[in-house]
Amino acid sequence: MQDKQFWPDYKSAFFPVSIVVVSVDGPIRPNLITLGWAGILNSDPLMVGISVRPSRFSNQLLHQQMAFGLNIPQESQASGVDYCGVVSGKDIDKFTATGWHSVRSQILEVPLIKEFPVNAECQIKQIIPLGTHELFLAEVKGIYVNNEYIAENSIDWTKVQGLTYTAKKYWSVKEPVYKSGQSLKELKK
Ligand SMILES: Cc1cc2nc3c(=O)[nH]c(=O)nc-3n(C[C@H](O)[C@H](O)[C@H](O)COP(=O)(O)O)c2cc1C
Repeated sequence: MQDKQFWPDYKSAFFPVSIVVVSVDGPIRPNLITLGWAGILNSDPLMVGISVRPSRFSNQLLHQQMAFGLNIPQESQASGVDYCGVVSGKDIDKFTATGWHSVRSQILEVPLIKEFPVNAECQIKQIIPLGTHELFLAEVKGIYVNNEYIAENSIDWTKVQGLTYTAKKYWSVKEPVYKSGQSLKELKK
């Protein structure tokens, strides 16, 4: 351990942090919240987890609706993504403020962000208090991809130009660097 330092700042230690914008219905209008604590947790059924502080306005809405949209942003949307993470939807319509449009998903009829390259509709199955955050475990009922990013039955992520986050900054994710399984050709089994 001589060549390592104890690092107290978890917020700059993990790279990358997956950035998503969650859309959830409300009594007056749908709301948007940017989240870093989010990820895929199970393959079949496909499950995701999002961690939301009880103090967030969106937390109440998630409890009420038990369903949400998960929207995966691209680099060019960084400004709106940041906005949805620093302003509360309690008194502000974040769809109007960002200029994004809401479309309804086919199965759960949750709001999704039309302009985002990939969206998923998710049904909350369990809510687990963890400490500072509540973990919402949800089943993915449908995934949508904007036509312009589909090439030969796969998503062209080089076109999407994804967005990630670490150390109070947004980072771009532009190109693949290594093919899965290629190591078997390069390293001894
Ligand atoms: C990059 C980024 C990541 C965030 N990740 C989370 C998160 O994982 N969980 C959470 O509760 N809040 C997170 N936040 C804070 C909320 O997005 C923020 O408090 C937001 O304004 C809450 O909106 P609401 O009041 O409309 O629910 C994050 C903010 C930013 C900018």
